[in-house]
Amino acid sequence: MLDELIAPLQARASSALDHYLPAATLAPERLHEAMRYAVLAPGKRIRPVLTYATGAALGVPLEHLDASAVSVELIHAYSLIHDDLPAMDDDDLRRGRPTCHRQFDEATAILAGDALQALAFDVLLGDGTRMLPDATRLDMARVLTHASGSLGMAGGQALDLAAVGHALSLEALENIHRHKTGALIRASVRLGYLAAVRDDGGLEQRLDRYATCIGLAFQVQDDILDVEGATEIIGKPQGSDADLDKPTYPELLGMDGAKRTARALCDEAVACLEVLGDGARTLALIAEYIVKRDR
Ligand code: IPE
Ligand code: IPE
Ligand code: MG
Ligand code: MG
Ligand code: MG
Repeated sequence: MLDELIAPLQARASSALDHYLPAATLAPERLHEAMRYAVLAPGKRIRPVLTYATGAALGVPLEHLDASAVSVELIHAYSLIHDDLPAMDDDDLRRGRPTCHRQFDEATAILAGDALQALAFDVLLGDGTRMLPDATRLDMARVLTHASGSLGMAGGQALDLAAVGHALSLEALENIHRHKTGALIRASVRLGYLAAVRDDGGLEQRLDRYATCIGLAFQVQDDILDVEGATEIIGKPQGSDADLDKPTYPELLGMDGAKRTARALCDEAVACLEVLGDGARTLALIAEYIVKRDR
């Protein structure tokens, strides 16, 4: 059921990404090739799917959501390239393929990340959102900048690196996960919400709570898969967190505790969707998927 609902959105995201990425034949060819290699590799596209599913639940046509869906996935792809660099997690495998710096070289990988970040904002503020009011486009740009920067994903990555080798409280670990992973997932939902013109009676807060819960659950499940997943399935090296002495939910709460936390977050997320009725079916299934996924 979930597949039937999300596979078309994943495919739509992949083809929109392909459309907005510069051709590999355009100079500088090697940089464009690296950008396309990293982005078009088989990722789950959960962030653009969330933008589409949120907008669709509120009656927004999918064509109005392509640019914002693409922009958040471009930021995510850049964050993965940099996350894998030797200076950060130093991983060799991503999405079942050599990481960008392994396939190309470190300088190219750094620049591909930089360029993807710039491209994300170019797409978000370009022709693809011209049907939306300028005030909405400005709000969207602020949501994405905030989620990407030092108070969002990049800040979370800094906290993650600073935590290596330290014993953390649950509160401190939750704060890292909410920033490094939760911020972009929250932005994905918010971009879909902003594309809808609607006088909402509290819906905005409920959607934001939904997104906050699934954003944290997503990283808790990522930590679980780092222990229990198989490298061939997760497409990245199993055991990377333990090798790097990263603080994780299973380490802090035990495997059962981590799984209970993920389940409770999923249930809370689904409860936030009640007001939306049937229109939010896909969003509810995505929350379930996030804690049941094996990749
Ligand atoms: C991996 O994200 C990094 C995290 C923020 C946990 P995903 O699990 O969404 O990776 P892809 O996009 O499917 O490769
Ligand atoms: C990465 O967290 C979060 C971001 C890339 C912002 P992880 O380091 O746990 O992600 P994986 O496990 O390498 O995908
Ligand atoms: Mg990391
Ligand atoms: Mg990593
Ligand atoms: Mg991980």
